[in-house]
Amino acid sequence: MSFPATRLRRLRRTDALRGMVRETRLSAADLIQPLFVRAGSGPATPIPSLSEQYHHSIETLVEEARAVHAAGVPAVILFGIPDHKDEAASSAYDEEGIVQLGLRAIRLAVPELVLITDVCLCQYTSHGHCGVLRDGDVDNDLTLELLAQTAVSHAAAGADIVAPSDMMDGRVAAIRAALDADGLASTAILAYSAKFASSFYGPFREAAHSTPSEGDRRGYQMDPANANEALREVLLDIGEGADMVMVKPAMPYLDVIRRVREATLAPIAAYQVSGEYAMLTAAARDGLLDERAAALEALTAIKRAGADMIITYHASRAAGWLS
Ligand code: PBG
Repeated sequence: MSFPATRLRRLRRTDALRGMVRETRLSAADLIQPLFVRAGSGPATPIPSLSEQYHHSIETLVEEARAVHAAGVPAVILFGIPDHKDEAASSAYDEEGIVQLGLRAIRLAVPELVLITDVCLCQYTSHGHCGVLRDGDVDNDLTLELLAQTAVSHAAAGADIVAPSDMMDGRVAAIRAALDADGLASTAILAYSAKFASSFYGPFREAAHSTPSEGDRRGYQMDPANANEALREVLLDIGEGADMVMVKPAMPYLDVIRRVREATLAPIAAYQVSGEYAMLTAAARDGLLDERAAALEALTAIKRAGADMIITYHASRAAGWLS
């Protein structure tokens, strides 16, 4: 039947009617808050490239983790800013490394919070690449060993979920084997499976001091033009033992999220990255967008595309807006 018998506006007439037929519901329980922890004590310092995000000392990290949990956000993902970088990224897998210390402190203070860690070497290598360099190229197989050591050290310090973001081939299998060999079989893996070589990571690299000193990441992260390949990455990671998979960035890749949704029953995370956040906050600051409305719309769209959970710098504030 068509017009005039069918009038889709009938179910849009009131808030209550719209609520009854709403297909996608965003809630605080879907969100994951990224947090940055640095060496040293003292107050949190604002990150210039990411409005309302901070570099935390261990003390303020714990306070912030408490606040995130109190807002109803179930999980955080931790990024470390070490005070030492070298060719072998040794502070990434140091038991007393900054992420490891942060994990232990949050685990004690906020035991119910789900702790996820980003497993990558780029913040820890002197050259800023995500793996070990050999003859000017990131050596895949040499890197796997260090990623596995990093993941094990995070899990031992209390991470519930380790999330490799390096895009080396075979990292999920290597990490799974290392965790199991160390008696850490219950630590889950969230694989950054379809991670694109995106220009939307700029503000994060400023914040994490992880811009490569030479070259770029196109030799290991995915070509933004490819979606079939994203599915191959997802299926390989699940085959290697990933418990959850990720698409990153989120908004420019909604079609990829949808295709991954159709290809797997595994939980899917989407990462609304720093550049997406920066676009929203900069436009809001200039009076061009309503930050709250635009952020909630973007997050709802990412969920509608098929994401089960969303990593977003808006997590804490969005939880407040949704309550
Ligand atoms: C580490 C990593 C990056 C991001 C998450 N983990 C940076 C990169 O790959 O260059 C980006 C997150 C964001 O932009 O918000 N490899």
